[in-house]
Amino acid sequence: MRIDIITIFPDYFAPLDLSLIGKARRSGLLDVRMHDLRTWTHDRHNTVDDTPYGGGPGMVMKPEPWGEALDAVAPAEGGATPRLILPTPSGAPFTQADADRLAREPWLVFACGRYEGIDSRVAVDAAKRMPVEEVSIGDYVLNGGESATLVMVEAISRLLPGVLGNAASVAQDSFAPGGMEHLVEGPVYTKPPVWRGQEVPPLLLSGNHGAVDRWRRDEALRKTARNRPELLDRIDPDDLDQRDREV
Ligand code: ADE
Repeated sequence: MRIDIITIFPDYFAPLDLSLIGKARRSGLLDVRMHDLRTWTHDRHNTVDDTPYGGGPGMVMKPEPWGEALDAVAPAEGGATPRLILPTPSGAPFTQADADRLAREPWLVFACGRYEGIDSRVAVDAAKRMPVEEVSIGDYVLNGGESATLVMVEAISRLLPGVLGNAASVAQDSFAPGGMEHLVEGPVYTKPPVWRGQEVPPLLLSGNHGAVDRWRRDEALRKTARNRPELLDRIDPDDLDQRDREV
């Protein structure tokens, strides 16, 4: 998969050199390219923002550098078109289902806005030649799209075949499609069997895989009820068995 990131802070993305994503990049599974938006400014101060029409506080990102940046990164003619992701608190909520869907795309471009956002004509113009999505990572306001992009790139790239050591672990994650969509994962344990007086639930040491799977589902249901009760309403009743209902 190819990912282009356009930002005024390319250094913000240093973490993408680390850990599993760094490894995926070095092995060629993931091709991440950073672009400094100021490359496409033409004044002495490399200006990327200006005051908002209509007044109000803050600054708005100017359309010209963004238009040129997107033309350069994803040329109109020349075959493939990427999907453009615009991180913004006013976007649609980013979920695990979106991570799954976007992990199937061959090419994504993230445009990281700062200040009060990017002049709205940029998205309209881009949409004439590529699919565009405004996406929010949660109901809070960040200083810019950079940290949101880091979050999304990590959530997406860990789903690419070969990026995680153990592909099966993805299927058991909180929110994973095929059983965990509307559930969070329950508690996990490793050695030693007793630590500071606390025992690991004995069933996990039993070797009875069927019973362990059932226990994990029970615990996922309990934890979801405790921390995310609103998710339980989204479970299709046909996906609940008698035991689920008792938990
Ligand atoms: N930019 C600022 N806040 C954001 C958020 N919550 N999600 C995505 N992009 C953002």
